[in-house]
Amino acid sequence: MSRFIAVTGASAGIGKATAQRFAEHGDTVLLIARREKRLAEVVQEIESSVPGADVQPLALDMSDPGSADVLRDRVRATGRPVDALLCCAGAVPPSGDTDGGGMESVLKEWQDAYTANVLTSVVAVESVTPLMADGGSIVLYSSVAAYRGSGGTGGYGAAKAALHSYVHLLATNLGPRDINANAIAPGYVAGTDLFGDGLPAARENKLVRQTVLGRAGAPTDIAELGFYLCSPPGGYITSQILQVNGGMNHGV
Ligand SMILES: NC(=O)c1ccc[n+]([C@@H]2O[C@H](COP(=O)([O-])OP(=O)(O)OC[C@H]3O[C@@H](n4cnc5c(N)ncnc54)[C@H](OP(=O)(O)O)[C@@H]3O)[C@@H](O)[C@H]2O)c1
Repeated sequence: MSRFIAVTGASAGIGKATAQRFAEHGDTVLLIARREKRLAEVVQEIESSVPGADVQPLALDMSDPGSADVLRDRVRATGRPVDALLCCAGAVPPSGDTDGGGMESVLKEWQDAYTANVLTSVVAVESVTPLMADGGSIVLYSSVAAYRGSGGTGGYGAAKAALHSYVHLLATNLGPRDINANAIAPGYVAGTDLFGDGLPAARENKLVRQTVLGRAGAPTDIAELGFYLCSPPGGYITSQILQVNGGMNHGV
């Protein structure tokens, strides 16, 4: 049976692969991100690789509280409850300049990290949960950085760790509706826009060496777990943070 799935951050990387995975299953997928043109391209890509795909773009900034009403109206207009919400939207803000920019730029980095990684999920979840089907699913996207820090900057890893607490709250509150809520914490996933034009080769090689599998993750590795958590066999998994990182050693 076709389900109705909402994916934030669907214009690139993990969110795009996740939207594609559900479309391949025959689900209707609402693809949400800020860049309208990019979303239209992704919709076209999925439509050409999945014949008959029902994929719909919705250009929204999920950190903007005003997006809540737009999202709710769009869901109501379909006349269907949301079966799963996957909050892939996230970003690594530029590092606060501790040497020259002073405290203002340090705080800006922490606030931007929180806005991009926590508030985008909060706006999506709080908008959609009243419109979710009982037995549905929520997936948030953390990071290995929540466990071992985020390189030179603190805000990103701390923001991702905040999502862990939110997952437990959601699982507790929504359990009586048989809605499971989990977070996926990927390690280094190549082929996404998260690091702009890509990581410097030395940094990428170091991250790959930290895995026991000796390779970076792919967006499809993460998409597959999101799909499982939102499908009947994954329904008893809730309130968990699931790490997908090729065995990347903590703290290396
Ligand atoms: N790639 C990795 O190595 C890695 C590792 C650990 C965790 N993660 C996490 O996995 C998730 C997906 O990352 P990714 O690697 O696929 O990154 P990505 O390719 O940069 O995709 C991020 C997506 O989020 C959207 N987005 C960002 N801010 C948004 C906002 N305010 N409102 C709506 N959409 C927004 C972006 O689209 P627009 O710009 O069009 O809005 C884009 O579609 C993120 O939460 C990331 O932190 C990634």
